[in-house]
Amino acid sequence: MDAIVNDYTSATYGDRIADVYDDIYRPTDVTDSINTLAELASGGRALELGIGTGRIAIPLTVRGVEVHGIDASEAMVAKLRSKDGGGQIPVSVGDFANLDVEGTFSLIFVVANTFFGLTSQEDQIMCFETVASHLDERGIFLIEAFVPHVYGFAEGNNVTARPLDLESVKLDVTVHDRMDQIVDIRTMLLSNKGIEKYPVRLRYVWPSEMDLMARLAGLQLLERWADWRRSPFNSGSRSHVSLYVKTTE
Ligand SMILES: C[S@@+](CC[C@H](N)C(=O)[O-])C[C@H]1O[C@@H](n2cnc3c(N)ncnc32)[C@H](O)[C@@H]1O
Repeated sequence: MDAIVNDYTSATYGDRIADVYDDIYRPTDVTDSINTLAELASGGRALELGIGTGRIAIPLTVRGVEVHGIDASEAMVAKLRSKDGGGQIPVSVGDFANLDVEGTFSLIFVVANTFFGLTSQEDQIMCFETVASHLDERGIFLIEAFVPHVYGFAEGNNVTARPLDLESVKLDVTVHDRMDQIVDIRTMLLSNKGIEKYPVRLRYVWPSEMDLMARLAGLQLLERWADWRRSPFNSGSRSHVSLYVKTTE
């Protein structure tokens, strides 16, 4: 198995993509996620893991929720702080495998597959444990992520190409490690501007492994939906929104 040897850290993805992140995600309608998150916060404090440029946190604050954040990338946080309403959101710069935040929250959430940015099972378990210790008694931990597809990632190395227009093409160079459940992706945009490179490394897990990590941390699954509209989750679902709460005896 070829592994990409490099100095990828928890800040690499954000630091590289910060300048274009909002252009990539701007078309996404966040109304359903904001409605759901505001309801789940139920008047209490919320904490977003991997808050990024504030795509979710800023509109959630506008809805009246007190939002805090944590992110490993100074560049993403700088974008957040440059926006209207972004400067007032308290953000800790650090790794959300181990939360360096004060107090407890009624809602802790991690969206857009960001949980998979923790690239080892140990870090993912540690995240569940540290989240559990920062939840109010009736607090909720929400994760939005894709459901891995057994044939979704090729064996070993893979390159896929997609022409974007007459002048540009998007190349994804992927190395997949099935044993550690890691995909290492180098996205390259080739255009008249030159070559732009956006690396991302993910450790994907199935919902079942997430549920097991929750158990280890003293949490249990409350609900699982296929999307933010709370569509029923089933074996054909490509993504999930999962809610965990403290285990009751
Ligand atoms: C896909 S972006 C999501 C940003 C935002 N939550 C949103 O929905 O637009 C992932 C964010 O998580 C941050 N991140 C990734 N791994 C992290 C880690 N281990 N600790 C803290 N932040 C991390 C990145 O810097 C980036 O800002």
